Amino acid sequence: MTTLVTGASGYVGAHVAWHLQALGERVVGLDAWLNRTQNPLPEGALAVHGDVGDAELVAQLAARHRFDQVVHCAGLIQVGESVRHPDRYWDTNLVAAKRLLDTLRAAGLSPRVVFSSTAAVYGEPSRLPLDEDHPRLPQSPYGASKLAFEALLADYDQAYGLRSVSLRYFNACGKGPYPGVCERHEPETHLVPLAIDAALGRRGPLAVFGADWPTPDGTCVRDYVHVTDLAEVHHRALAYLRDGGPSARINVGTGHGHSVREVLAAVGRVTGRSVPHHDAPRREGDVAVLVAGVTRARSALGWEARRTDLDAIVRDALEGRALLP
Ligand code: UFG
Repeated sequence: MTTLVTGASGYVGAHVAWHLQALGERVVGLDAWLNRTQNPLPEGALAVHGDVGDAELVAQLAARHRFDQVVHCAGLIQVGESVRHPDRYWDTNLVAAKRLLDTLRAAGLSPRVVFSSTAAVYGEPSRLPLDEDHPRLPQSPYGASKLAFEALLADYDQAYGLRSVSLRYFNACGKGPYPGVCERHEPETHLVPLAIDAALGRRGPLAVFGADWPTPDGTCVRDYVHVTDLAEVHHRALAYLRDGGPSARINVGTGHGHSVREVLAAVGRVTGRSVPHHDAPRREGDVAVLVAGVTRARSALGWEARRTDLDAIVRDALEGRALLP
């Protein structure tokens, strides 16, 4: 069984690739290396440098490896950038992804697909926790492009029998046990690594985006899910499809929220240094609270997040920061 992992040098993609390889699956990792720093692939996995939208390359890989499964992690992920450059987001997250599937189909393959989707498909919550049937009203081209690919996957199932699971990630964080593999976004925009860097004096004080949200301490609440739990849920989703499970869209979170201030406090405890910070205006596109409803992940995949202790998550993330220059 050979699995194509796209975006395999990215944060989630690399953790998925290592996890699958550790379980004995054959992995081909495809990555365009858009981030200047890349995560390594495990020994034995084939690393291919290229774009998922490169039909010639994908056709060659399809002919050689006859992929049974695809984990499609490649994509652009920044909400703010997507507002300024929607062309890039639609190109990468929809057009190139569509070309990937079409090229595989043209090669006679009908792989099972696990797709990296996002909680950003929901937009402003009208009820919490967010169950998967909550209205999808994305507030950014990022969320909209991910939702559009979910819709494409539904149509491809209907017409071509291509089954898929779209995993709607909440806030991925932490680090897995794989050497050299960590969160390496450039630029880094995520709270946990930025707060750690601020505590370590590797950057200036952290701007807390909004202290006047309608939450208990006035800061935004998010559902922080450990990347190792994320890697595991991809394996579960592949197994679910292999066992004949119908296409599904499934939240991937813990079901519990933490405020920005709670994250800063955890970083303070773990590093032994308080996080220099100041209150700043709200960030465009943010919402007060995002917490996953996790019933479907449990019932369909038999999965729930296990690494939910915030201090332990920060401890792992801190190990990852130590790997960076
Ligand atoms: N935050 C700050 N200061 C910072 C960075 C973040 O206060 O310097 C706050 C944000 O306002 C937010 C929280 O910390 O309230 C978490 O922010 P992140 O940028 O770490 O994560 P987001 O919740 O904005 O986004 C994440 C993923 C997206 C995904 C989204 C879905 O990165 O890809 O969750 O909810 F779309």
